Amino acid sequence: MSWEESTKNKMLNLHLPTDPRWVDIASMNLEDILVDHAYCEQKAASSCISLILRFPDLDELVDVLTPVVAEEWAHFERVMEQIRKRGYNFGFPRKDVYVVKLYEFVRKGGSRMDQLTEHLLMNALIEARSCERFKLLWKNIPDQELQQFYYELMISEAGHYVNFLDLARKYQDPEKVNKRWQEWLTFEGEVLKGVEVRSDRMH
Ligand SMILES: [Fe+2]
Ligand SMILES: [Fe+2]
Repeated sequence: MSWEESTKNKMLNLHLPTDPRWVDIASMNLEDILVDHAYCEQKAASSCISLILRFPDLDELVDVLTPVVAEEWAHFERVMEQIRKRGYNFGFPRKDVYVVKLYEFVRKGGSRMDQLTEHLLMNALIEARSCERFKLLWKNIPDQELQQFYYELMISEAGHYVNFLDLARKYQDPEKVNKRWQEWLTFEGEVLKGVEVRSDRMH
């Protein structure tokens, strides 16, 4: 299967495709998109570090996520390189409404493994959506260097998406995970419907 095929929403399971207006306005506002993106990569790295700190007793989780931290940090470095090269300002992070809303869906309580499932699924979802958006940027941004960059990121985030889902199914009854995953997907689709399409946000 080609990458084009495998990164279709069907494979990513996303319920709602990104509003096509997003990529048009995002490509006209590269500075904001790159700055927001830089913070997304930073958050991706720190969320893996948090999982490792919280679950150091889970060998496979630690071994799978350790190289992911390095990959996310390398993505951050590469985004920063683009920002500096273009003479853009980095500055403070913007409010991430999308992630704030997803956090609200994290089910509190339950067992330690239930908590792990919630966080792994939330991470998987953010990876899936990022992957979908990188694909749109890859296909639509006129700048050739950025096209290649987004293409590589799309592949990398698709791998992380699989990592998170596989870990969730390893540490929790896969049927339970699949059921909860469907609930997360439905919720994410609803969140996206309610989030304003903005040119200065990755999500
Ligand atoms: Fe990344
Ligand atoms: Fe990632």
